[in-house]
Amino acid sequence: MSKNHKRVRVLLSRMFPANGIDLLRNEGFEVTIWESERPMTQEELIEKSQSHTALFSTLSEKIDALFLERCSHLDIISQFGVGYDNIDIDRATKAGIPVGNTPDVLSGATADVGFGLMINVSRKMFYLHKSIARGEWKYFRPNANLGIELGDKTLGIYGLGRIGAEMARRCKGAYNMKIIYHNRSRNLKAEREFEARYVGFDELLELSDVISVHTSLNEETAGRFDKTAFEKMKSTAIFINTARGLIHNEKDLAWALENGIIWGAGLDVTSPEPMDPGNPLLSRENVAVLPHIGSATVETRGKMAELAAMNIIEFYRGNKVPHLVNPEVLAG
Ligand code: DGY
Repeated sequence: MSKNHKRVRVLLSRMFPANGIDLLRNEGFEVTIWESERPMTQEELIEKSQSHTALFSTLSEKIDALFLERCSHLDIISQFGVGYDNIDIDRATKAGIPVGNTPDVLSGATADVGFGLMINVSRKMFYLHKSIARGEWKYFRPNANLGIELGDKTLGIYGLGRIGAEMARRCKGAYNMKIIYHNRSRNLKAEREFEARYVGFDELLELSDVISVHTSLNEETAGRFDKTAFEKMKSTAIFINTARGLIHNEKDLAWALENGIIWGAGLDVTSPEPMDPGNPLLSRENVAVLPHIGSATVETRGKMAELAAMNIIEFYRGNKVPHLVNPEVLAG
């Protein structure tokens, strides 16, 4: 690790919020920004990274074995985001590269999107908005456009961590929803705060009126919401995913919606991203899709930029990364 700021060259894979860039420049670092609208190809990312000492990345950069083999010279990778499933952490650790991320600051904004999707799906709002544009608003029909209510229903959270807790807070506060959850380990703080009840995965599927996914993507969670899982859910249930698109199987979800196995779905994440504009899910009545905007507020993106920049700055100042994903690298 170099503490010589003169040789610190930071590659930013996007035009990030200015406050983060200013922090890096004010620290005396040389900053290169990839300013094109399109992301770099992996070859471009590797080539550019060769002449830099630090990488400021985001979720669509493929930081895999190939990248880490060719860019093992990097001092640090700082991810603008809480999730880092685009980074092979084991290999980064083996290469001795600390990886930072930006947790906490985006929890409220992301939960807002989950909460908003839930309400929108329950009342078919995205679909009805589009139906007006199609000239379909003719007269009052007592039995048409009926949604379902959320009051006193059961919210099942898959992955009750920081973002899940914010979702629980909103659902309990607004609708007095009962909270159940399934995690790798129990979240006693949330159990106390929201009277949340830990349940097995099958029980989560069977009892929830709304299932909201807030876990990271890993071997255990990839494809967890498949045909078998949807079949166990209530036919009136709403499925919400603001975490990662690969946690649900999109074909199986489409099947479940088409066949009335579940009521509806709200997605801020898809697989692939971007979603194809011709995807039939986009024209379904009980589906609302957003383009991965969980953390996209002025306030939150500014805080993420600050955290991601400070991970790099603190590393060069004193070998500490405030939000470090692989602490083994800096231990001892
Ligand atoms: C995150 O921070 O992980 C968000 O999903 C954006 O990548």
